[in-house]
Parts: sequence; C-alpha cells; structure tokens
Amino acid sequence: MRCDILTLFPQAVEPYLAVGILGKAVASGIVDVRVHDLRRWAINRYGQVDDEIYGGGPGMAILAPVAVAAVEELAGGDRVRVVLPDPRGRIFTQEVAKELAFQERLIFLCGRYEGFDARVAQILQADEVSIGDYVVSGGELPALVILDAVLRQVRGVVGDPQSVVQDSFTLGLLDFPVYTRPRHFRGLAVPDVLLSGNHEAIRRYRLRESLRLTLQRRPELLQRYLPHLPPEVQRLALEMAEELGLHNLLAADRG
Ligand SMILES: C[S@@+](CC[C@H](N)C(=O)[O-])C[C@H]1O[C@@H](n2cnc3c(N)ncnc32)[C@H](O)[C@@H]1O
Repeated sequence: MRCDILTLFPQAVEPYLAVGILGKAVASGIVDVRVHDLRRWAINRYGQVDDEIYGGGPGMAILAPVAVAAVEELAGGDRVRVVLPDPRGRIFTQEVAKELAFQERLIFLCGRYEGFDARVAQILQADEVSIGDYVVSGGELPALVILDAVLRQVRGVVGDPQSVVQDSFTLGLLDFPVYTRPRHFRGLAVPDVLLSGNHEAIRRYRLRESLRLTLQRRPELLQRYLPHLPPEVQRLALEMAEELGLHNLLAADRG
C-alpha cells in the first residue's frame, strides 16, 4: 500500500511515522508512506497557498488550484482515493478503517485555517472523514489517526494478527481489561482466573469482561452487532444483560 500525506507542516507528521508499529512497517517496506509539503504547489514565488474567504469573515482557506495540482501530480493519472479530514465528514470508525485498508493507494489532504476551498472535495471526489465531533487546528492529527488505524488492518503491520482481531470494535465489542505485574497493587489484586493457567476459563472470563464493558459503556455497539456475533456470545450477552439489569437494552434483539 502507498500513502501520500499532503500537509503544510511535514515536520508535525514525520516523527510519528518513524516510531513504533508504523515506524517498523515503513522501514520494512510493508507500506510506502510519503510526506509532501503542500507549499511545493504554491501559486507564486512567495509560497502562497491560501487566501481570504469570499463573503468575508475570519480566517483563510487553502486555494483549490494548489490542492488539486498536488493531488493530480501525485496520483499521476491513476484513480486514487483522496481522504480529506474534515469535521463535517463521515465519522471515522473501525469499519471505515477496514474499508480504506483495501485501497492500494491513499492520498491524505491535511487542511489548516478554515480548511480547503469547497471545490477541492468536489473536484477530487474526496472522501471527507471526521475523527469526531470536535475541531482540532489542522488535518495532520486526524490524518495520522486515520492512517494508523488503517495500517493496523494491513497484513503484516501488527506482528501478531490476533492483537488486531482482539482490538476494541473489531468484533463489535470493547476489548477486555489487561493486567501485568505486580499481582497486588494499592489493595487491588489481579483476578485469580488469569493466574489459573486454565485457558478455557480465561477465555470465558475475558469474553464476559468484554461484554460487561460494552453493555455498560457502549450498549449501542452490542445492539448493532449482536446478530452478527457467534451464538455462544449472543447467549452470554443476553445472560449478562439480565444479570446487570440491562436486559431492556437488548430486548429488541430477542423479539
Ligand atoms: C480549524 S479546522 C477548520 C474547521 C472548520 N472551521 C469547521 O468548523 O468545520 C482546520 C482543519 O483541521 C482539520 N480538522 C479539524 N477537526 C477535525 C475533525 N474533527 N476531523 C477531521 N479533520 C479535522 C480539517 O482538515 C480542517 O480543515
């Protein structure tokens, strides 16, 4: 997979791509990530990439000719999915991450100021994606959030593929809590079952904990994914909803 990131602040993006799981994936060539300074496509020798917005008001917008020229040059005539981080876009989820992971190429267009001239998204048929209902100062953090989640879905990026299967949201459940040494800390003990060596008991305990957390914190996820879960998990979810006095939450699925 190849990903190009267009930004006015390459120095804000590059360090993140050099460390951890992504750093290894880039270094080993599993993914080819290239960061470009949008100013390379500035419209004049003063490096102009933005201008005042028509109709008045505070802030500047990034010029359409700059963004379009940059994307078209990088795409080189190929059809490439352009991801445009934007608080008004579709909400980014694990499902969107999986969908984007199927693309051979992605180009991220990071906005600043008041964002891009509205014609950029139209001309490039960009996929406008929001990382949540809040506004940050630029598209760099959203692009990295999206890219990181997408690359975790690409085979070989995360060393143990089981980690990805287990991740929150992959199966529609929140991940179970994990513990490490020491066994006792500030009056809190690691649950005995995790030290029992009984793999089946541990599996069931973790599944119950995933279900408990999901029921208590994100019941809408269970409402949505329940029909797609294995029968054993569905039965346990209904049992636990009953135990937790949350049976009404899943009642519709029983009917
Ligand atoms: C200061 S924001 C502009 C926000 C714009 N005035 C609005 O309210 O929709 C500048 C850039 O940051 C990025 N951005 C900010 N919040 C975002 C979010 N929640 N999701 C995705 N991108 C975001 C976008 O690229 C946006 O163009």
